Amino acid sequence: MSNYYNMPKLPTEASPKVEIFVDDKAVMVPGDTNLLEALKAVGIETPHVCYHPYLPVSGNCRQCLVEQEGPRGRMLVISCYTPVTPGMKIYTPASSARVKNARKATQEFMLVNHPLDCPICDKAGECTLQENYMEAGQNESRLRPEYGKNYHGNPEHQFIDAKGQLRGGKHVDIGPRILLDEERCVQCDRCVRFMRSIAKDEQLSSTTNTTSVSRTYARRAP
Ligand code: FES
Repeated sequence: MSNYYNMPKLPTEASPKVEIFVDDKAVMVPGDTNLLEALKAVGIETPHVCYHPYLPVSGNCRQCLVEQEGPRGRMLVISCYTPVTPGMKIYTPASSARVKNARKATQEFMLVNHPLDCPICDKAGECTLQENYMEAGQNESRLRPEYGKNYHGNPEHQFIDAKGQLRGGKHVDIGPRILLDEERCVQCDRCVRFMRSIAKDEQLSSTTNTTSVSRTYARRAP
């Protein structure tokens, strides 16, 4: 997957209204945006982690899954990267157990190495990751401590991967001002996209995609 993505198109007052069907109910939504924004415009919040309205869409967290009816039946799609089309039929967790389970499963995968009592950004309970977790009803971890702790490796959360390389770590030095804590990073890729698209100073990069993840790293001068 390329790391160069498209900017989302945000709805405006002048956006044309189109009719779509959400959970078998007809609703009028802005027709020139993505599904996540369109649903938001009619009061349906979709959990998201990697999506940000002012950053290019990378679509890697899979938290915003909905079902869309198409020629081959109902399929899971990411709402942050699916454009609105007139007449489309969408199913959210309100009517689809499949969407509910898919969101729950991707969230569990994302948080498997991430503690939920995380105080890092100090937002006093306003962490969207934690809110998504509570909404998904994922209240118990399936990670058994005797296995989990072994997997986390040493106290620095480092472990040897299948290729014999030392991976992970709570204090990965990626430059003079940035420290990577791999126990907290959920590979949302926002920092990388911010540096590239807003700061226009691309100093971070990642090879995150939906099937494999590897660490975000700093581009170093040759
Ligand atoms: S918000 Fe859609 S994939 Fe991350």
